[in-house]
Amino acid sequence: MSQTDSERPEVGREPVKFAYWVPNVSGGLVISNIEQRTSWDVDYNRKLAQIAEQSGFDYALSQIRFTAGYGAEFQHESVSFSHALLAATERLKVIAAILPGPWNPVLAAKQIATINHLTNSRVAVNIVSGWFRGEFAAIGEPWLDHDERYRRSEEFIRALRGIWSQDDFTFRGDFYRFNNYSLKPKPLDPQPEIFQGGSSRAARDMAARVSDWYFTNGNTPDEIKKQVDDIHAKAAINGHKVKIGVNAFAIARQTEGEARVVLDEIIAKANPEAVNAFAHEVKNAGKASPEGQGNWAKSSFEDLVQYNDGFRSNLIGTPQQIAERIIRFKDAGVDLILLGFLHFQEEVEFFGKHVIPLVRELEAGRPLAVAAE
Ligand SMILES: Cc1cc2nc3c(=O)[nH]c(=O)nc-3n(C[C@H](O)[C@H](O)[C@H](O)COP(=O)(O)O)c2cc1C
Repeated sequence: MSQTDSERPEVGREPVKFAYWVPNVSGGLVISNIEQRTSWDVDYNRKLAQIAEQSGFDYALSQIRFTAGYGAEFQHESVSFSHALLAATERLKVIAAILPGPWNPVLAAKQIATINHLTNSRVAVNIVSGWFRGEFAAIGEPWLDHDERYRRSEEFIRALRGIWSQDDFTFRGDFYRFNNYSLKPKPLDPQPEIFQGGSSRAARDMAARVSDWYFTNGNTPDEIKKQVDDIHAKAAINGHKVKIGVNAFAIARQTEGEARVVLDEIIAKANPEAVNAFAHEVKNAGKASPEGQGNWAKSSFEDLVQYNDGFRSNLIGTPQQIAERIIRFKDAGVDLILLGFLHFQEEVEFFGKHVIPLVRELEAGRPLAVAAE
């Protein structure tokens, strides 16, 4: 049965946005010994950012790691690396990951304000709250309880907003204090957008109070819809608006069969020790939350081969299947799709050429002229 335009929730909404994970840590986005034509070095990443903006991507998301727990042996720092990518591009926005603890808000506010001036307001931040206890131990940072980490992240975000928007900023928090502080220069308009990652209750509650964007791990459109409804309902009570980004690992091939063969090979060649070590860390981090769950509570071994559950979003198949699935996410309330790939440069280009145009056709309410497999 065909739907009329008014019955199709995606018609009339803003086009869904696309972001990719910056591979600024070694080992790519899957914990597998499959061949990955992806490099974590800066030359590869500069070219990737240029390909991405030419291919219709809106954002790139960098990662912050201080030590590795699952491969990812080498890691470039996220804020300086993000600036290198901004300097190599003209339109792409780059989201720099920031971890409260190692960063305090005054340094982050100043760094990001300067990058904002250098790049015509194209820098954003992703405030991550931490899941890897061993990393905190290695760098001598106190490991806070799950919900305390989010309480600190919330103060961090409130401090960033205050410093960026007010003169004589005064703040009395449990973690941070400011006394008549005036940052000069402040960021140019528009102010840097604030993203956050995490799906636990504490993460959602924080998003519904202070974040511009809520990033969550991969999942089915139905499961994502539950999170969206929860966050939007809480945000409405707080008089706040928050947009939603979902992680997915995309495998787009000419046939669904080819794409499934690639997924099977990624999992068959997974590094079991590294996946299990990662599973141990993240499950423990989530169990320490009051509700005893977290981002990875229901993740299987196969899911965790992509460390943010990207296979669960199932953007695996032909461009048409993937485009239709993206519309299902949009119908569920998703505003942005965050993508990982096996061979970043070539697959970002393929995605921009073959998938994004189909998404735009569907968003315009036009049936696809492409034959299904
Ligand atoms: C899209 C996304 C990106 C993230 N990036 C990072 C990162 O760069 N570094 C990091 O340590 N944690 C990162 N995280 C982890 C989260 O900040 C958070 O610690 C984790 O998801 C645990 O969340 P929970 O509260 O749901 O248990 C990311 C999470 C998501 C969803």
